[in-house]
Amino acid sequence: MSANHLHQLAAWATWAKHHGPLLAGSTCGLVLASQLPRMFAGARQRHHDAHWASRRDLRKAFLLGTSGVVVGRIGGTVLRYHGKGHVFVVAATQTGKSRSLVKSTLLEEQPRTSILVHDPKGELYETTAAYRATVSKVVKLAPCTDTTDCYNPLDAIRLDTEDEFADLGLVASMLVNPEGHTFKSESEEHFVRLAQISLRGLLLYGMQTGQVVGLGDLYGLVTQGQLADAITDMAVATHPIVRESGSLLQSLDEKQYANICICSHDTGHMWEASSPHLLQNL
Ligand SMILES: Nc1ncnc2c1ncn2[C@@H]1O[C@H](COP(=O)(O)OP(=O)(O)O)[C@@H](O)[C@H]1O
Ligand SMILES: [Mg+2]
Repeated sequence: MSANHLHQLAAWATWAKHHGPLLAGSTCGLVLASQLPRMFAGARQRHHDAHWASRRDLRKAFLLGTSGVVVGRIGGTVLRYHGKGHVFVVAATQTGKSRSLVKSTLLEEQPRTSILVHDPKGELYETTAAYRATVSKVVKLAPCTDTTDCYNPLDAIRLDTEDEFADLGLVASMLVNPEGHTFKSESEEHFVRLAQISLRGLLLYGMQTGQVVGLGDLYGLVTQGQLADAITDMAVATHPIVRESGSLLQSLDEKQYANICICSHDTGHMWEASSPHLLQNL
């Protein structure tokens, strides 16, 4: 590098030192200025983006299909959402949500799917069940009425199969900890586990001996004074699940035993005699 060049470089460095902020500012300005047309173009683009959906847009939004939740109509085409998202409809009461969307959905075949309808007023059942019965199996679950279908959770237990243990455990867990709470302490966890093992064996014992067909019978077995006899029988049973539970219940001290009974009372109180419909239907 020649002395002349060095001199020029030093002069540039001195200038840049004094004018650096200006340089930086103008650089930013330049970059910003160079982006402005694009940003405005973007804004224009976004503005112009608002348009009525084309058929292509509808297809991309999973609204053109032969099944799914009916959400409206465009010309003669019914729009049904058949994507993987949720549909949430909000409008004041009596504005036609049920009539336009829900009933329209239920009054179409909707093949290869199951539909669970929460229908507290029964209006959807009343107006759509007859049609749905022609395209699928309809089950009405309203356990406090005379016209309900029955549901017995114990039917899910596959007795005498390799699934028996897991099925019993699942039903017993759901009974002792129906909300699936996480435990606040080790002792609470231990207690719930004890209750679960006890109920698992009691359930199996009751089902094997024919004393328990539904959950109401289990509640009766625990609460109506035959529990002590059942435990004695269980402790010498041949089935290991029943025997384990019987021995466990026999080994409990009075307080633990009372707690297990209270737990069973708590989970089973809905089957109390004051709810004969429930006793019969669940
Ligand atoms: N498109 C419609 N044409 C005629 N009547 C309708 C229409 N939509 C709703 N209705 C009537 O309006 C009332 C309220 O409708 P509904 O669907 O039950 O409202 P929402 O579920 O929003 O409370 C019903 O009596 C229904 O028959
Ligand atoms: Mg409604």
